[in-house]
This record gives sequence, structure tokens and C-alpha cells, in this order.
Amino acid sequence: MAETPAIHVLNGPNLNLLGVREPHIYGRETLADIEARCVAVADGAKVTFRQTNHEGVLIDWIQEARENADALILNPAAYGHTSVALHDALKTLTIPVIELHLSNPAAREAFRHHSYVSSAATGVIAGFGAHGYELAVQAALHRIRERG
Ligand code: DQA
Repeated sequence: MAETPAIHVLNGPNLNLLGVREPHIYGRETLADIEARCVAVADGAKVTFRQTNHEGVLIDWIQEARENADALILNPAAYGHTSVALHDALKTLTIPVIELHLSNPAAREAFRHHSYVSSAATGVIAGFGAHGYELAVQAALHRIRERG
């Protein structure tokens, strides 16, 4: 681990529309608001915060995190329910991986109940809205410090 820990926060498809997308489910905060929350609780750790609508780009970024990050926070959005490729990419990591959802997929439609990410993650945070990102950064820092 470098002296300043690096936390990568990756966001999947449609999360660029946060704030206007089904706000009764996902809230009114934008992704930029959420990024600011993450930086505010990061306690000096370097936060790399990204969003893409493309599965392959997410895979590239996960592989990048393998080299450059001390922890990964991933909101895979719908790809969590569909992507074996995402699962396989995550399985190559040895750093802590936190799966994150704003909503609680287990309490929603049946097609959201399965996640290909959960079985490759250290832990899952779901259902706490934007605050979940802060919880995830805190959990990542805790894990990083625990591992020394
Ligand atoms: C989500 C939940 C997913 O089921 C959904 O496809 C999303 C967002 C969430 O953050 O609650 O796009 O990951």
C-alpha cells in the first residue's frame, strides 16, 4: 500500500442520470454530489470516482484497480444482475471489494435479486441511498488499515 491509500469508486450504467432518474428510488442527489460526499469522508485517501454506461469499460477499470487501488467500491447497476465478465474481473482482485447499491435490490423486482458481483465481493452495502457511498468509503478505509 502506498502512503496515501487509493480508493476507486466505479459506477455502472444509468448512474450518470442520478438526480433525475426515478428519484423516488434513487434520490435527488447527482453523482457529483455523491462524489463530493466520498471525498469528504475519505480522510485524505485518494478517491478515483468514475461512471460508465459500457460493460467493457467497467472491466478495464476493474483491471486498472487491480494495479492501482487499495480498495474498490463498485455500484455495478444493472450489470450486477447480468455480467459474468464483471464477476470474473472482480475475482482477479486481491484488494477489498465493496458492492454498493443505492436501493435494496433484494426488496425490488425478482430480476434484481441475483448479483454476479456479490460472490466476488468482500461485502455489500445496499438500501441506504447516497449515504451508502459514505458507509462504503468508511468500510474500505477500515479494511485497508486492518490489512496494513
Ligand atoms: C442499483 C440497483 C440496480 O438494480 C439497478 O439496475 C441500478 C441501480 C442501485 O444503486 O440501487 O441501476 O445498482
